[in-house]
Amino acid sequence: MLKLQDSTLVRTENYVNGKWVSGSAGHIEVLNPASGRLVAKTVDSNAADTDAAVEAAAAAFKSWSTIPAKQRAAYLRKWFELILENADDLGMLMTAEQGKPLAEAIAEVNYGAGFIEFYAEECKRVMGDIIPTVANDRRLQVYKQAVGVVGCITPWNFPNAMITRKAAPAMAAGCTVVIKPDAGTPLSALALCELAHRAGIPAGVLNVVVGSDSQAIGEVLTQHEKIAKFTFTGSTAVGKILMAQCASTVKKISLELGGNAPFIVFGDADIDEAVAHCVATKFRNCGQTCVCTNRIFVHETIAKEFTEKLQTSIAALKVADGFEDGAEIGPLINAKATQKMDELMADAMAKGAQLLLGGARHELGENFFQPTLLGNINDSMRLANEEIFGPIAAVQTFSSEEEVVTKANATQYGLAAYFFTRDVGRVMRVSENLEYGIVCSNSGVFSTEVAPFGGWKQSGIGSEGGKEGITDFYETKFHSLGGI
Ligand code: SIN
Repeated sequence: MLKLQDSTLVRTENYVNGKWVSGSAGHIEVLNPASGRLVAKTVDSNAADTDAAVEAAAAAFKSWSTIPAKQRAAYLRKWFELILENADDLGMLMTAEQGKPLAEAIAEVNYGAGFIEFYAEECKRVMGDIIPTVANDRRLQVYKQAVGVVGCITPWNFPNAMITRKAAPAMAAGCTVVIKPDAGTPLSALALCELAHRAGIPAGVLNVVVGSDSQAIGEVLTQHEKIAKFTFTGSTAVGKILMAQCASTVKKISLELGGNAPFIVFGDADIDEAVAHCVATKFRNCGQTCVCTNRIFVHETIAKEFTEKLQTSIAALKVADGFEDGAEIGPLINAKATQKMDELMADAMAKGAQLLLGGARHELGENFFQPTLLGNINDSMRLANEEIFGPIAAVQTFSSEEEVVTKANATQYGLAAYFFTRDVGRVMRVSENLEYGIVCSNSGVFSTEVAPFGGWKQSGIGSEGGKEGITDFYETKFHSLGGI
């Protein structure tokens, strides 16, 4: 049984209009992916439950959007402080439902809280405009006004930070929100609601509906007349369906979708640094992030040294239950995810990949997969084209800058890209030529609340984080004032 310092953070009902309410579709069993054991039973909800949450959010919108930004900021600041005070418990809840190592889970809680702190500050600085007039009897002004109720669907791989990255700017702007967290990881979302409640955030501003029928709930959030904006983090395939559904009411949308991140190591790179960052970005969250390295391109002159060092570093990773001291790689989220690793391996091996490390299920349990290194990757393989979303590192070689940039860009995705070189001219050329929303040179670590996170091409629409992350939650109004 999960032992939290504050066991009242474990909430199992929907949070709607400031109250804990049951769902109408039975129960969901939240299982620990490391052990398969039951963590908690939550309510399960249907379209009518979601509709009720939308109505609550719509009713709260007028008062929340018209209080001064400074006052909204104070509520958010209080929420942020409570999250930090409870970071250890929130981390434990996350490890229990999602599987990531506890240190990584607590780091996510802090990362997630950062969005609340940042937007509590940022909302006080969102300005309209006064435009020099075109006639003396008129004045021209531009207002920024909260867009309205926001529907959010959030993923299981970051059960905390992907909620705060959407909800915090929305709420800071004056919007009210209805969130559907992934049915596999609802406890982090509900604990955030508990803390928002304690922070005094008014009823109806933040609503969470837990449900396993993603289609029914998704249809409400994408088609309801009272939802003005919809935001989603998840796969490109699902994003396309949701985007089409939003068309019927012409909703504003933001989408954070899949990736196929290249990690390029040029011949002049600091190899030890490149190896360390490659491991960090490939194996974060057991390879289950949209920005995890997917394709590793190494210059042919250093391929042998880089690959050997990479193999040594991967072999040293500690695979364990996320609660175990020193755990670095936890389980995959579920059996389907592990099955996908088997399939990607079989496909790659049949097409000539070289197995350098791992390659099979891990003895710890059915959701564990060995950290794996493959060489000799070519473009015909599924793992060169699809998001791997697991602990398989796949290396291929290249001979020129032009060749590798062309290959790196030859994908429908455009979320994150990484490269290592000490040549400053190349840093400029390659960072400009990569068709990605996030480009990271000489580092594999970039996530921060103060900068925009968003994909090009089929990796998404809009940006979250940074000053960009709040703009989509406002409508622009031009006021032409006459009769002066
Ligand atoms: C994601 O994988 O979608 C989020 C990763 C991050 O925010 O660093």
